[in-house]
Amino acid sequence: MIELTVTDDAEAAARACAARIAAAIESARAQRGVAHVALAGGSTPARAYELLAGRAGDWRDVHLWLGDERCVPLDHPDSNSVLVRDTLLAHLPAGRPQPILHRVERAGDGDPPAAADAYAAELRASVPGETTGGPASAGHMAGSGTPPFPVLDFVLLGLGEDGHTASLFPDDPALEERERLVVAVRRRKPPPDGVTFTLPLLRAARATVVLTAGAAKAQAVAATLAPPSAHTPASLLGIGATVELIADRAAASA
Ligand code: 6PG
Repeated sequence: MIELTVTDDAEAAARACAARIAAAIESARAQRGVAHVALAGGSTPARAYELLAGRAGDWRDVHLWLGDERCVPLDHPDSNSVLVRDTLLAHLPAGRPQPILHRVERAGDGDPPAAADAYAAELRASVPGETTGGPASAGHMAGSGTPPFPVLDFVLLGLGEDGHTASLFPDDPALEERERLVVAVRRRKPPPDGVTFTLPLLRAARATVVLTAGAAKAQAVAATLAPPSAHTPASLLGIGATVELIADRAAASA
């Protein structure tokens, strides 16, 4: 199920998003002593990250992951880890506990499948999965031999004009993936190569927000709220999961 939250403008959408992330971090740490949060790339979340830096004072035991990454060198301006570094980490008070940013260390090696596998292994080693009762178990076939999916506490995603989210593009074979956590993909926006979390991993999260703004996204918002279709990957996020789509009035205008 995908629930729409409409805000007056992009700034209010960013503020609401920052509040969701800060609350998810607090509750995860209160319940499990650690928080695993996946962040989005693209341009829209930048303001939310700046606001989040000002909101959450204590980043102890917070692990930050990237729901997708572009296969460029780690210090390249197109890198999503550079976005998080410059709009969130750079604004955190020095001398205080910092979050751990799990970059896709092999993103710039020119071997996207190896970068995806390495990131998946790091996720498996760091983020606990659930075999009973948790969201992850919903799709987990008991006895299937596939280990349970890691359960992230919070996932933030963006939305492309074509309805893509993370680096899951319309009608892409990656949408069919049922076992792997992270796969390499050919992106339909530059840069051409990327790695992305798969739908089962995204759906296993405890909370998911899709953040978008601007009239250019209005058709994609409407398609995301329509019955699930591989033509609109974001619409598939709500199968077996509850997702909040935060959009400003312009993006929710269709
Ligand atoms: C990426 C993103 C991608 C992004 C959308 C929206 O790495 O490019 O993860 O899914 O969220 O393309 O991008 P904008 O916010 O720039 O419109």
